[in-house]
This record gives sequence, C-alpha cells and structure tokens, in this order.
Amino acid sequence: MIIIKGGKIVSPFAIIAADIAIDENGKIAHIGRNIDYKGAEVVDAGGLHILPGAIDAHVHFRDPEDTSKEDFSTGSASALAGGVTTIIDMPNYKNPATTTLEAYAAKRAIAASKSRCDYQLRFGASETNQREAEESGAPSLKLFLTDTKSDLRCSNEAAIKHFKTFSKYRPVCVHAEDKARIEERQKHYHAHEKIRDKIASQIACEFALKEAAKLDRRVHICHVTTGLEIELVRRYPNATHEVNPAHLFLSTDDLKRLGPLGKINPPIRDKREVAALWRLLGDDTIIASDHAPHLISHKMDGAPGFPGVGTLLPLMLNAVHDKRLTLEQVARMCSCNPAHAFKLAGKCFFEINADADFVLVDMKKKWKITAENRMSKCSWTPFEGKEVYGKIEGVYLRGKLAYDGEKVLSEPGEGKEVKSVF
Ligand code: NCD
Ligand code: ZN
Repeated sequence: MIIIKGGKIVSPFAIIAADIAIDENGKIAHIGRNIDYKGAEVVDAGGLHILPGAIDAHVHFRDPEDTSKEDFSTGSASALAGGVTTIIDMPNYKNPATTTLEAYAAKRAIAASKSRCDYQLRFGASETNQREAEESGAPSLKLFLTDTKSDLRCSNEAAIKHFKTFSKYRPVCVHAEDKARIEERQKHYHAHEKIRDKIASQIACEFALKEAAKLDRRVHICHVTTGLEIELVRRYPNATHEVNPAHLFLSTDDLKRLGPLGKINPPIRDKREVAALWRLLGDDTIIASDHAPHLISHKMDGAPGFPGVGTLLPLMLNAVHDKRLTLEQVARMCSCNPAHAFKLAGKCFFEINADADFVLVDMKKKWKITAENRMSKCSWTPFEGKEVYGKIEGVYLRGKLAYDGEKVLSEPGEGKEVKSVF
C-alpha cells in the first residue's frame, strides 16, 4: 500500500484536500481524509496539486515507420515528462502503413516492448480496407479526408463506406480538411495557411458530422482550429472534438519567428480565430497534442507538424496560472474527457477500480520549456525557452513513480495496452 498524503486532489468538479491510498495492483483503493495503513509507504504531497494523469489521444510516435524522428521509447519518455500517462498512437503512413491486420499486429508488438507509458493503437483507414479495419477489432479508426502523401487518404466515398462498416460505437477519428478546396486554392495561393484555410477545415468537419449522423455513429473530429467547428460538433450527440494546444498558444503572428518550423496541418490560425477557439473551449473539449515529431532538417524541407506530447499539460497548467482556465477544467479536458470519449478502461481516475495514474504539480514553481527537458527524439519544440508555471514534480503510472521531476524512471516495456469498453 502507498499513501499520497497532504496534497490537493483536482477533480473535474472541485479541488479537495485528501489522501490517496494505492493498492498492490496499482489501483486507487481509497480517497479520503487522514488515511493511515500500518506499514504503508507514505509520499508527502504537501503543497502540491494532484491531477489525474493526462491522456493524449493523438500522437504519432513514428515506430517503426521513421524512428529517426521518434520511437515508442522516446515518445513515451516525453509523454511521462509532461504528465501524460496514456497515449493513443496514430497509424503509420508507410513502412508499413497501419492499414492491414499484419501491420497492426506488428505495431502492437513493438509498442508492448518499447512503451514506457500506457497506450492504445489506432487503425488507419485506406481507400479500400473497410473490411480489415472492422476485422482488426481496433478501438478507433483514423481517417484523413485530405492528402498526406500516403496510403491513408480517403475519398469522401471511401470515408462513407468506412462510416458504414466500422463498428458504430467505436470512434472514427477524422482529420477534417477538404481536399477539393485545398487543391483549388493551391492554384492561387502560396502561403500554407492560405491554401489550407479555415473554410477547408469547416467544410470537411461538416461533411464528417453529417455523414456520421445519418448512420447514428460515433465520430471524433481531430484538431479543430476554428470556433465554428466546435459549434458544429455540438449539434451532434455522437460527435466529440479535440483541440491541439499549438492552435491555442500560437497564432499567425508567431509564424515569422518560427519560419519553416511553424508549418502544421491544419495550419496555425490568426489571432481572431485563436480567440474564438478559446471562447468555445468547454466541458466537452478534449485537449490532444497531435504530437508529430519531425527532425529540423525535415522541417526545413517542408514537413508539417510539431512535437507536443511533452508540452500539452505544462501549457494548460500555465494557462491556469494566467487565469484563462481552472485546474478543474484542465483535469476534465486533458484526462476525464479523453478517457470517456475513447472508453479507456480503468483510466478515469475518479471511478471505482481506476488505475493510480496521477501527476504531482507545484503550481507556484516556474520553469523553462526546452527541447532537452521535453525529451522527444526530434530535439526541438515550438515553445523553446517559454517560461511556465506549474512544475511537474512526480508522475505515477499504475501506482509506480514513472517520472521524478527530472528523470523518467519507467523503462521501455513497462507501458501496458489499454482496453476500451464498448
Ligand atoms: C502530421 C504528421 O506529421 O504525422 N502532421 C501534422 O501537421 N499534423 C500528419 C497530419 O496530421 O497531417
Ligand atoms: Zn491530423
């Protein structure tokens, strides 16, 4: 038995001063005042907040596709250093694309041997693999409505077929940007954010929502970048949405400074749209990083995407310091909402028999984000040098100290696959 004593537990509803007892199986046995067990190991959490471990439902750990950028060992280290205890990894695009049963099985084996944090794997939708996607039994499916120069793009017709065949209770996660509009705008514009404009996102978002609603199926809209998309999602009871912190904490004003590093799909939006996104964040929002590591040399050649799994929670905690959010909202958006949306068994901290995944945070302590302390193999972050409040002093995964505030203690292979309950 371990007892975490004297901390302030952050639930989605309130902050409560209470102790946590963790049993031998790494589950939460009890939350209450002044818990004492003879012979228990006691951890002093005095002055610290205890948040549920963050769940990042959108990461690209690149294993085995391109391990020069990231792999399960480094990606999961970065996750733990940022207070993320569970991730959902996206399908590969090639080498091999995670669009076949064999590739999916092979990737599960890799994750099992290399991941330091808990994980789940998403299957990839190709133009023709509807049958395999369903047969895979994967808990969720990733579907791109626009080109990523890979096997993973689906035409609108193929997307509708996937919507029909993939189990309707399991989320189809849609990268929603309209291919036809983007191709048309490529003829007239040069700037990335002009080509892939916000209307391209909104058209594809509405398409996915309408088609999913016709079938009464679960759909999840990845990385929305506009207020309107959130409003659209809210019209459909079976739809959820996620927001990438990059789209909350960066605007087109930052693109000059970032140069080629600032390219991401969907693009960073202007300040007005960023403000709309903030206004529309709500109790149903999921924060997910779209951790898309690329080496700087690849960024210089135009690769889109940012690393983000290690900065997700720190940026949100700093937003609490800046009084833009409450800690309760952060617990909800970064942990409870993704646990519920993807039905992650044992991963909702406040439910019976939950895994003891939590983060000890000193909200008064200021520290500096660097690529080095974020630990991604890609070795850069768009938030390099940013000073933030809310220092992560410890991360527990299933009751075991996995990050001590400086070092990741969890070894490759200690992460476990998380089941979904449908
Ligand atoms: C993603 C990547 O690099 O895997 N990049 C990105 O800009 N978000 C792919 C994608 O989602 O387009
Ligand atoms: Zn995407």
